[in-house]
Amino acid sequence: MFDFSGKVVIVTGGANGIGRAICRGFARSGAHVLCADMNQSAGEALAAESAALAGEIVFCTADVATSAGAQTVVNQAVSTWGGLDILCNNVGIQPKEAYLPAHELPEEMWDRILAVNLKSAFLMTKYSIPHLRARGGGVIINTASVQGLQSAKEVSAYAASKGGILSLTRQLALEYATDNIRVLAVNPGSVDTPLLRATVEGEPTAEMRAEWGKPHPLGRIAQPEEIAGVVLFLASDDASFMTGESVCVDGGMMAKGAWA
Ligand SMILES: NC(=O)c1ccc[n+]([C@@H]2O[C@H](COP(=O)([O-])OP(=O)(O)OC[C@H]3O[C@@H](n4cnc5c(N)ncnc54)[C@H](O)[C@@H]3O)[C@@H](O)[C@H]2O)c1
Repeated sequence: MFDFSGKVVIVTGGANGIGRAICRGFARSGAHVLCADMNQSAGEALAAESAALAGEIVFCTADVATSAGAQTVVNQAVSTWGGLDILCNNVGIQPKEAYLPAHELPEEMWDRILAVNLKSAFLMTKYSIPHLRARGGGVIINTASVQGLQSAKEVSAYAASKGGILSLTRQLALEYATDNIRVLAVNPGSVDTPLLRATVEGEPTAEMRAEWGKPHPLGRIAQPEEIAGVVLFLASDDASFMTGESVCVDGGMMAKGAWA
């Protein structure tokens, strides 16, 4: 549907789940995509799909929660393709062991979740901005969450990181609007990815999936491609007057009042 021919795109946490669907979506639309991830085998498997796509996916191993990792990723995209047009700050973690009331959450776990989910977006943006400016503009899309808008129990670090991402989205949109850099976020509901599946022991049963689907008025969880499609739209010229906004892709979850 979209034409991203010749565009250079970075996707963090791109080897699995939502990130993988975003990488595939851009590459099918003709883009050069750098998939940045710590999971080497999954990243290499994704890059191997390139031959069948209109564009290409190159894999870069990096921990984007570190300054060195973020710089490596941006430098590789720019040295490989000569610039950067679109940055997808998609990476996020919510380890099973982190589902705890705040007073029991180890400080190291708080630090790691904030570093991966929030600081990585700052670092990736910091190193990308000069290259987006050099192109005369660009787009940054952050993967936030409905948990940045409303709360659940025992996810203090995750919820704080996602609220932070939404605030950062607004902030960056204001800061770089005159550089023609648009900054947007998506708020997925529950999506069928390794992150969600890892919240239970073994393979989730049909009953578990049905239970996960219940809070969504559409009655089911999303597939990663349903989030990626919205990311591609937001990055496209069809969304050229959108910035500083977040879009819920949640099967109606955020539309529901407590009385519904
Ligand atoms: N799955 C859901 O239900 C859901 C809902 C709302 C929001 N989200 C958000 O969507 C985004 C993607 O989530 P997902 O479900 O696809 O997750 P996922 O676990 O399926 O994939 C995340 C990828 O990030 C990589 N990664 C983790 N830490 C990294 C680091 N420091 N540096 C580089 N790569 C790293 C992992 O190796 C993995 O490949 C996250 O920001 C998540 O918070 C997910």
